[in-house]
Amino acid sequence: TWTMVNIVDEQVERIRAQVGGKRAVCGLSGGVDSAVAGALVQRAIGDRLTCVFVDHGLLRKGEAEQVEKDFVAATGAVLKVVDAQDRFLDALAGVGDPEEKRKIVGREFIRVFEQAAREVVAEGGQAGDDVEFLVQGTLYPDVVESGGGTGAANIKSHHNVGGLPEDLRFSLVEPLRELFKDEVRRVGEELGLPQEMVWRQPFPGPGLAIRIIGDITRERLDVLREADAIAREELSRAGLDRDIWQCPVVLLADVRSVGVQGDSRTYGHPVVLRPVSSEDAMTADWSRLPYDVLAAISNRITNEVREVNRVTLDVTSKPPGTIEWE
Ligand code: XMP
Repeated sequence: TWTMVNIVDEQVERIRAQVGGKRAVCGLSGGVDSAVAGALVQRAIGDRLTCVFVDHGLLRKGEAEQVEKDFVAATGAVLKVVDAQDRFLDALAGVGDPEEKRKIVGREFIRVFEQAAREVVAEGGQAGDDVEFLVQGTLYPDVVESGGGTGAANIKSHHNVGGLPEDLRFSLVEPLRELFKDEVRRVGEELGLPQEMVWRQPFPGPGLAIRIIGDITRERLDVLREADAIAREELSRAGLDRDIWQCPVVLLADVRSVGVQGDSRTYGHPVVLRPVSSEDAMTADWSRLPYDVLAAISNRITNEVREVNRVTLDVTSKPPGTIEWE
């Protein structure tokens, strides 16, 4: 029978045959695809793989630590972390336009990744010990979609580091090319990856940058990270996190609303909960979450995140709304 163990064993054999005695780099995004691809290649070639994690400061609470600590502990992978938070924040300063944010994050990501990959190549040293391979977590649906040249392939382009320069060309290792998402998750479990990583819901490459409506600052990121963490915690406490497709939490940073806390008037910001159900993100319906779960999320966010004094629910399907607000 075609089990996850078979898939892992077969892929490990194939990766060994492809890479031979050479070395490889793998960019980790915090998401399940790159993590599983990296873990598979690590199992196949061990220390001849270097994983690279660009910390752009736009991930959710705990996600950078998941990559830096839990992924490494689970796989034994060699990891190079680039702390690029200041660089991304500087580049994004004063930028409110969604497309501009996306462009900036994509551009900076490629630059930082390219520099890191050059360093990995330079660290190799020995002749015949070159880095020749780049690991990518391309899934079967990505393969099909990029053949059609659809927008979906575009959406993913910055993750797939397609913009590397000519003199930094790698051959691709794509061990997930024949798999669907649910199979990738089962392979991830088989490889012992952290549950939070394996079951992570879709998350956009530009990260929290496109969930802050307005300019991005460190303070705003911290506020959104706290609110988002609470929503995720309550959804998983209610056992709903695997039922819904994703639940963006959006900070309306340029909007203020009046509230009252204790005896004092507050003038804070609203957040929007955007829980959606979907098969493929092309269309989506807003999730009918139980009122008590919504109440728990709302109470906790307004109690625990000082800057947020109002929680609202987005009840728009896609179309006409997109899943993300930007
Ligand atoms: P929308 O907002 O277009 O989102 O309905 C559809 C799905 O794609 C994700 N998304 C992105 N993923 N880079 C990504 O890697 C992006 O720029 C991006 N924009 C949206 C979104 O989270 C949803 O799952």
